[in-house]
Amino acid sequence: MCTNSIEKISTYSSPDRKDHHSFSNPHEALVTHINLDLEADFKQKVLSGEVQLHISHENASEIILDTRDLDIIKVSCNERENIEVSYGDPTIYLGQALHIPLVPDSRIITIEYRTRPEAAALQWLAAEQTTDKKLPFLFTQGQAILTRTWIPCQDSPGIRVSYNARIKVPKEMMAVMSASNPKEKNDQGIYEFEMKQPIPAYLIALAIGDIEYGEIGPRTAVYAEPSMLEKSIYEFADMEKMLIAAEELYGPYLWERYDVIVLPASFPFGGMENPRLTFATPTIIAGDRSLTALIAHELAHSWSGNLVTNATWNDFWLNEGFTVYFERRIMEALYGEDYASMLAVLGYQDLEADVHDIGHSHADTHLKLNLKDRDPDDGMTDIAYEKGAYFLGMLESKFGKSRFDKFLTEYFESHKFQTITTTEFVEYLNNNLLNELDEDVNVNEWIYGPGIPESVIKFESDKFAKVEKAISVFYKDGSLLDQDWTTHEWLHFIRNLAPDLGMDEMTVLDSRYQFSNSGNSEIAAAWYEQSIRSGYFAENIDQIRSFLVNVGRRKFLTPLYRALKETDNIALAKDIYASARNNYHAVSVQTIDDLLDFDSK
Ligand code: BES
Ligand code: ZN
Repeated sequence: MCTNSIEKISTYSSPDRKDHHSFSNPHEALVTHINLDLEADFKQKVLSGEVQLHISHENASEIILDTRDLDIIKVSCNERENIEVSYGDPTIYLGQALHIPLVPDSRIITIEYRTRPEAAALQWLAAEQTTDKKLPFLFTQGQAILTRTWIPCQDSPGIRVSYNARIKVPKEMMAVMSASNPKEKNDQGIYEFEMKQPIPAYLIALAIGDIEYGEIGPRTAVYAEPSMLEKSIYEFADMEKMLIAAEELYGPYLWERYDVIVLPASFPFGGMENPRLTFATPTIIAGDRSLTALIAHELAHSWSGNLVTNATWNDFWLNEGFTVYFERRIMEALYGEDYASMLAVLGYQDLEADVHDIGHSHADTHLKLNLKDRDPDDGMTDIAYEKGAYFLGMLESKFGKSRFDKFLTEYFESHKFQTITTTEFVEYLNNNLLNELDEDVNVNEWIYGPGIPESVIKFESDKFAKVEKAISVFYKDGSLLDQDWTTHEWLHFIRNLAPDLGMDEMTVLDSRYQFSNSGNSEIAAAWYEQSIRSGYFAENIDQIRSFLVNVGRRKFLTPLYRALKETDNIALAKDIYASARNNYHAVSVQTIDDLLDFDSK
């Protein structure tokens, strides 16, 4: 046993690092490498095969893994075949602990297993549910604690593993992972992967389908279904520039390639930062490159999140807050200050709305969360994202960009491939930055206190001021001008309309600007919400229905279903949901089931 692993194991004893969302025992026995060998059966909706777990321990009596809805067939270790294992009680969303007894020389555990069709990480799509409607599709979503539904593992963000995989898929399909990836399909339908850098389990990801590869730059490319490939290459043309800008800000990109896969529309998130291969919703393919901040965001996670990872889900803001700040710095570098300010103002609106909904003095508005006994998904609000980013913005304004950038660069360099808790970050901040300042910057108020602190530095946008002017002119005399606005200006326009705007005004706006037929998902979704809240939706219910049936991105679904519910249209909401639900990933299903109190039986 090398000292390195003993040291590693001992760091897991600190109470600050206790992960309430994992049953695993890393302070006693640690998984360091995963070797997957799986076959995808699209008829049964099952992944089956085996996983080898390389473990590090010193005389531990057992290793405990996280599992949920898995069928474990056989567990072996070295010469010991068919080891007798035991299970903890099944617990909602956490799943079940799998206890595997160890002997002193246990090094590699082999588990033969199968996933179940209802595995929450996996979405098995029929051909009709894909964009091209030719072949079925499978993708995984691991964050926060779903990897345990397709791999028995230590499913904690504080535990890192390297991995290899061999995935067998039906002919005509290609498999890609958060690892080294193929550029072409092969006749055997067998794909091999390697992720050398250690990553937390929530970043292990797989997609299988009719996938093609299209190059963008020397280190960047897109994967997509054939009909989406050219559009995606056009949309993400600046990806290589983003990567270079990111490196100029905060140091070298340590994952070799940065590719994006554009998934079918049911993908429940805008984007997911799976290392080397961001998973993205097709709803950012707007045709005019206006929604690519999302790519900057997922790319930024290659530093904040993937290189330096939140040790527990209570520290989620260390992933997302830093990433939103970083995303806007990338966008500023590429498209200028005006552009970045618009993003920041829209983000502030989201923050205020979330603080209002959660409650100004509620503990869920703290950056550091307490998610013990709760589904970590509950903590995934705009607080972590926007309050986190605004906290860093406040620090930037105190120290100046160049000093603050140096601090962040050193932070990433000194913590690379490690995990960090909020307490550890505060200590690092005190020792490496705040010690240079005389005044108190109220770090505790920002991190451990509620609401938005007074010291927040807000952004102004001249472009948005013009949009607000246009709204007041419209209200005054009904006149509407042709506008050569960008997506973000239109969004600001729609978001700032009075929620109870009259039907005449809504009709005039819609016929003039064609919002109901917008091909831009952000504009359409904002307009549909406004339509529901103002009572205009009888006019565009067909478009709203088709949007909700086709798109599974939770960020769009939740506000629309909630608006229907809050305007006493719950019966309509349930009617639409009944036909859409089968198209959604488990992550979105859970949220909307809860929101609508929907009983699927
Ligand atoms: N890592 C998140 C997505 C996520 C968070 C998945 C929590 C599961 C649990 C990703 O980086 C993200 O933040 N996506 C955003 C887009 C972004 C531009 C704010 C999204 O999906 O909307
Ligand atoms: Zn993110």
